[in-house]
Amino acid sequence: MVIRPPIVADAYSWWAGEDDDQWHWLWNEASYDTFPRASMLEGVTEFIASLEKEWQAGDSARRMFGVRERASDTLVGFIELRICEDKRANLSWGVYPPYRRRGYARHASALAIEYARTHMPVKAVVGIIDEENMASRRMAEAAGFVLDGPAERWEYGDETDGHMLRYVLPLR
Ligand SMILES: CC(C)(COP(=O)(O)OP(=O)(O)OC[C@H]1O[C@@H](n2cnc3c(N)ncnc32)[C@H](O)[C@@H]1OP(=O)(O)O)[C@@H](O)C(=O)NCCC(=O)NCCS
Repeated sequence: MVIRPPIVADAYSWWAGEDDDQWHWLWNEASYDTFPRASMLEGVTEFIASLEKEWQAGDSARRMFGVRERASDTLVGFIELRICEDKRANLSWGVYPPYRRRGYARHASALAIEYARTHMPVKAVVGIIDEENMASRRMAEAAGFVLDGPAERWEYGDETDGHMLRYVLPLR
């Protein structure tokens, strides 16, 4: 598999791939309030166009990658790094249902962590995860993150009501 910035031509696959889990655990979080809410192809297209501009500008706090099967180039999910105010990078992930439990998130995390280590001025990568999201918590642990305790409100925003946990992976 490979990770690569998404392009507008990916919009349909992105839109069709998302499921309720992804919507529930990710896009209702305030940190994603720029996302145009799932299920609207037009909104997803606009969102990916804005990502293209961010990549072209090269100075965004966010680095969003599509996760793709290497042989077919099929989009199977995304992985995102976002520089936080405490000089750590927040890592988020999502894999479309037919491709889950095949190691995509774990492999994509390893590639994104390496990207953060070599391209971003950050000292650690963090994952902010709802305590009830066991798939994501286990994924974080499989990727080498260690539970650091409850996350602070600024790390996940006002719209999230769950109990959020912070997982940390030091880089240096
Ligand atoms: C969390 C998510 C990204 C995992 O993606 P994935 O590609 O299926 O994960 P991987 O196949 O790389 O799994 C790596 C490890 O994570 C753990 N894991 C993954 N899914 C799991 C599940 N449903 N239950 C328990 N453990 C799980 C396992 O330890 C797994 O290793 P194993 O398969 O060898 O046992 C995927 O379930 C998803 O997209 N969920 C909805 C979106 C989401 O919750 N994003 C995170 C918000 S914080």
